[in-house]
Amino acid sequence: MAVDPSSPVLLFDSGLGGLTVLAAMRRLLPHAPVIYAADLAGLPYGEKTEAEIAARVAGLLGRMSERYRPRLICIACNTASTIALGMVRDVLEVPIVGTVPAIKPAAALTQSGVIGLLGTRATIRQGYVDRLEAEFAAGKRLIRHAAPDLVALAEDKLRGRPVSAERVAAAVRGMMEQPHGEDIDTVVLACTHFPLLEDELAQALGSHVRMVHGADGIARRIAHLTQGQPFARSQPDFAVVTGEPDPSLAPALEAWGLAAVKQF
Ligand code: DGL
Repeated sequence: MAVDPSSPVLLFDSGLGGLTVLAAMRRLLPHAPVIYAADLAGLPYGEKTEAEIAARVAGLLGRMSERYRPRLICIACNTASTIALGMVRDVLEVPIVGTVPAIKPAAALTQSGVIGLLGTRATIRQGYVDRLEAEFAAGKRLIRHAAPDLVALAEDKLRGRPVSAERVAAAVRGMMEQPHGEDIDTVVLACTHFPLLEDELAQALGSHVRMVHGADGIARRIAHLTQGQPFARSQPDFAVVTGEPDPSLAPALEAWGLAAVKQF
């Protein structure tokens, strides 16, 4: 069936982390209409149970795809993807691109054989991560660490609030202090919020540590799946958010080409 040129790509995250994927997508597909959806009423997903996350993600994406008729949905959230991707794909007809920890590229890059993985508490305990580790990092050491404070700091940063270097350092210390932590030379940013703090993290981790994340790969996947489709905006791109209106959001989102913020 022909794709409506104004049909959007819907990017979904619990908060503003998915903007790191939007940035990568804009570089490849500048003309693609976008709706950015943030489940701010559910943030942070990383502190929720699997059942809570799956119910929220499946319910919201079902309602959003009926309302906005996206050509493709990207779950721009590692926590939601590692838990609910399969389930959402089973129930929605629209193509779904997920975001999973970039363990494969990290394993190809590491020289020391010791990889750090920063994610949310919910992501790092997923069988999905066990499977990626077994498939791509066999023979390497993967040191997982939950860094929930980085989610809050990234949300603050985007709203123009100052980010404390000490809090960023404290959030990653538990990774560096695990056995063999001093040998980490590559860190997977397994949460879409974390690349928003790339400068602060580079300071905290040291210049010998390289960071990898999936945003460019996800953007390439979206470009591949929409190849040959017509793109024409019928209105400016916008964001939809759950929860209470937050006046600090509009200026933050405008900088990402999202002209309005609507409550969902
Ligand atoms: N951005 C989300 C992720 O990639 C997580 C933030 C949260 O805890 O909700 O995992």
